[in-house]
Amino acid sequence: MDQAERDQWIQDYYARRFAESDRLTTRSANGQIEFLRVQQLVSSRLRESSRVLDVGGATGVHARWLAADGHSVTLIDPVPEQVAAAATHIPDARALVGDARDLQVEDGSVDAVLLLGPLYHLQDRADRRRAWREAYRVLVPGGLVFGAGISRAAAALKIVLARSFHDLPANALLALLEDGTDVRAIPTEGFPGGHHHSAAELTDEAVAAGFTGVTTVGIEGPAGLGLEMLPPEDSLVSAGLTIADAATAAPPIADLSPHLLAIGTRPT
Ligand SMILES: C[S@@+](CC[C@H](N)C(=O)[O-])C[C@H]1O[C@@H](n2cnc3c(N)ncnc32)[C@H](O)[C@@H]1O
Repeated sequence: MDQAERDQWIQDYYARRFAESDRLTTRSANGQIEFLRVQQLVSSRLRESSRVLDVGGATGVHARWLAADGHSVTLIDPVPEQVAAAATHIPDARALVGDARDLQVEDGSVDAVLLLGPLYHLQDRADRRRAWREAYRVLVPGGLVFGAGISRAAAALKIVLARSFHDLPANALLALLEDGTDVRAIPTEGFPGGHHHSAAELTDEAVAAGFTGVTTVGIEGPAGLGLEMLPPEDSLVSAGLTIADAATAAPPIADLSPHLLAIGTRPT
């Protein structure tokens, strides 16, 4: 599948097949941990009243709290149905149809860019580089980028746990682990995928785009995969958060987390 076909599939998946609005709030303990950890990792680094560009913002799961916290938020997503939902539910944010590879935003005009989605839906490194470079271009010097990836190690474990292992071509898991090829995209339904990262690769991409001080952390931490199968009960969410927070200080285990987050700065 080439990127143009995948982009088409992304439209269909997010507009009709999957309710992205529920993913982080009601589905599992891990979903809530992902939401709370992203909120904590981002909000602790933002200055008051920042201009935030939420690229791949879907229906506004993060734009909502960012706007409520007093930031000026512009959400960009390629799926018009999601953008319309965000515009309806978050009147304080601007919501636009657009693509991470070609942002219709002025140079040096925002304080922070969230890339929480595009990087794992772009299968070619050249496209991911365009997304990183666009984030760099629109940021002010000193501005922050937050780029999320799906961990290829955690994805491989998930495939085995889900027992779809038997259905995979023999070399598929190795391809996933070696270069991030998204084997889950082989049957053409379900999650559109694109590319899975290692923590080191996500860091490299951010550095190659010019960002400095880059650090990549696991979002949900090493318990996240197991907690994806458990309900969003307070005690589970709280335990998972404690583990994820502790693991932030141990970069070598970031790859065990379902999602990774690279945080970097456009140099002054
Ligand atoms: C799993 S959702 C993540 C939503 C939200 N940002 C979050 O962190 O929960 C991935 C999002 O990336 C968007 N996306 C896919 N390809 C994109 C691209 N080339 N540029 C911008 N957004 C894209 C999808 O439409 C979808 O809304």
